[in-house]
Amino acid sequence: MNAKIVLLPGDGIGPEVTAEAALLITAMAEAHNLDLDIKTGLIGGAAIDACANPLPDETLADCRDADAIILGAVGGPKWSDPDAKVRPEQGLLKIRKELGLFANLRPVRPHPKLADASPLKPEYLEGVDMMVVRELTGGSYFGEKQEGDDFASDSCTYSREEIERVVMRAGETARQRRGKLTMIDKANVMATSRLWRKVTGELMAEHFPDVQYDELLVDAASMFLISSPAQFDVIVTDNMFGDILTDEASTLVGSLGMLPSASLGTGNFGLYEPIHGSAPDIAGKGIANPFGTLASVAMMFDYSLGMKDLAQSIDQAIHDCISSGECTADLGGTLSTAEAGAAVRKKLAEFSLSQDANV
Ligand code: IPM
Ligand code: MG
Repeated sequence: MNAKIVLLPGDGIGPEVTAEAALLITAMAEAHNLDLDIKTGLIGGAAIDACANPLPDETLADCRDADAIILGAVGGPKWSDPDAKVRPEQGLLKIRKELGLFANLRPVRPHPKLADASPLKPEYLEGVDMMVVRELTGGSYFGEKQEGDDFASDSCTYSREEIERVVMRAGETARQRRGKLTMIDKANVMATSRLWRKVTGELMAEHFPDVQYDELLVDAASMFLISSPAQFDVIVTDNMFGDILTDEASTLVGSLGMLPSASLGTGNFGLYEPIHGSAPDIAGKGIANPFGTLASVAMMFDYSLGMKDLAQSIDQAIHDCISSGECTADLGGTLSTAEAGAAVRKKLAEFSLSQDANV
């Protein structure tokens, strides 16, 4: 099998964690005889510095030509002047929109060993295993904006079609998991949320009668995410609520550095990125947690390359590294980014050896 992968390191800790992603992809290619071509491109602040454009045409063209993208993170204090005309984040939003990546899947599954790293009592974390499906190319992120000294506005818009396609993905995801879907909105205040409720309710009744469906207001949901997180299986929600709720949910796994994501459209193509940001405070120190990015590589093997077994082996290797304390400081370990990445590759090599021994 062959595939073209574009690596977009971006800013802050992005280059450090994506370097580990590249090493992992290369190791997987060698071990499993895959022809995986990796090309690196510019995005975000790094692209602004190089060519005053957070998403250069060349990057976009390479991405269109690829089977999958691995992205690090964008943004940082260097480019956060409120009066700046271009921002790194525009590159990320544009690539999501241009490539039609409307469904953002963010799994949240705490490792038992990390219970101490979470601010929650361990008993609250038992049985937590959820998938947040965040709408990614609509809502207030992309509505018309006005920006002045005395007035500003961000309009939040959703069409039926935009809601339908992401809810279909969420319903299918729920069906493959524990068969429960929760739609989170603010239908007591927002018109877009009332449309979400109507459309989602109709779709669930028509296409997913086998999936248990409920609706929650976002304020209550943000409380339940902390007070009874194990009740959630699949969550579907709009762009802004999904952004906020997934950062909140990351506290359940002990570190924002742990969470991967897949941004998908209608085909197999996808963009994979950790949900953490560029973490400028620790950038360049070699201490960033690469596991969210490596777990994103696992999602790429699953969703874009159709190799679920390889995805599972990467997840297992990350899991085992955490079990044996081979991790970065945010998880209570002592490893550098590079050492943590190498530990995952070593576990994977051991799996292959033990598989060979079993043959
Ligand atoms: C995320 C990030 C982005 C978002 C930022 C960097 C624009 O927070 O992917 O969650 O808000 O979507
Ligand atoms: Mg976010």
